[in-house]
Amino acid sequence: MKQVVTIEELRAARGVLKGRLGLVPTMGFLHQGHLSLVDLAKRDCDAVAVSIFVNPAQFGPNEDLEAYPRDLPADLQKLEEAGVDLVWLPTPEVIYPPGFNTWVDVEGVSAPLEGAMRPGHFRGVATVVAKLFNAVGPDAAYFGQKDAQQVAVIQQMVRDLNLPVEVVVGPTLREPDGLAMSSRNAYLNTDQRMAAAVLYRALSAAQTAYRAGERDAEALRGLMRATIEAEPLARLQYVSCAHPGTLAELERVEEGALLSLAVFVGTTRLIDNIVLE
Ligand code: PAJ
Repeated sequence: MKQVVTIEELRAARGVLKGRLGLVPTMGFLHQGHLSLVDLAKRDCDAVAVSIFVNPAQFGPNEDLEAYPRDLPADLQKLEEAGVDLVWLPTPEVIYPPGFNTWVDVEGVSAPLEGAMRPGHFRGVATVVAKLFNAVGPDAAYFGQKDAQQVAVIQQMVRDLNLPVEVVVGPTLREPDGLAMSSRNAYLNTDQRMAAAVLYRALSAAQTAYRAGERDAEALRGLMRATIEAEPLARLQYVSCAHPGTLAELERVEEGALLSLAVFVGTTRLIDNIVLE
């Protein structure tokens, strides 16, 4: 497994890789969710590259950039075992050298939900992903459904900028109690960790009602709200029942929906979603 830091090293190492190249962009502290994307890439590519970069541009001023969990030796071991060919570990200076002044702003789909709660977040995500694509030159890139709006933003950017990259979306990997795997779960203490299963319980309650015929979006949002409010350690930030393409809030679910929510458990902010078909 080749490890590179600079753009020059990356270009040289990329040049040696033959056939279809898959890229899995990450911020490290890797878990089974990340590794499932590596496995997907291994299955349909000839070579797999992974980037690990905690991207300052996608963190707000009061967010957890400094505290974001990091464990490079463990990450490298996991990627080696997964059979990754190339790991790119850029420093902030490699991605944002002095004088850096170009940003990718995806309008529309970036605005609601996470975009409304985290101003500038998707501008940081779109900019770094565009740079990762340009630097690595992958044929396909792998993203998790866990971050559904991030997927929508990247798909819009790829279409609008004609980026020659196929975007592949992998399913959300969960712990046995339903909690979506996330690097941020490491912030939770034992009680909070148990309470955090409430996000998936809320999504599941709404999904069960939908399967039983409920099509009123506000009723589905109400079920999710009530489930979260019944958990003393959880504080709801938003619930949404939105059009899966535009992410606009629905009144009635007619052609499917994205159910999503953001919840604080202690000071840790967790997000999750499921798609109603
Ligand atoms: P990060 O949070 O490290 O996630 C990297 C990739 O793993 C993302 O595509 C994310 O959706 C996916 N992922 C996270 N948890 C998952 C789970 N439980 N199951 C399946 N996939 C999961 O998302 C980012 O980093 C950054 O925003 C990035 C795209 C790298 C840009 O900086």
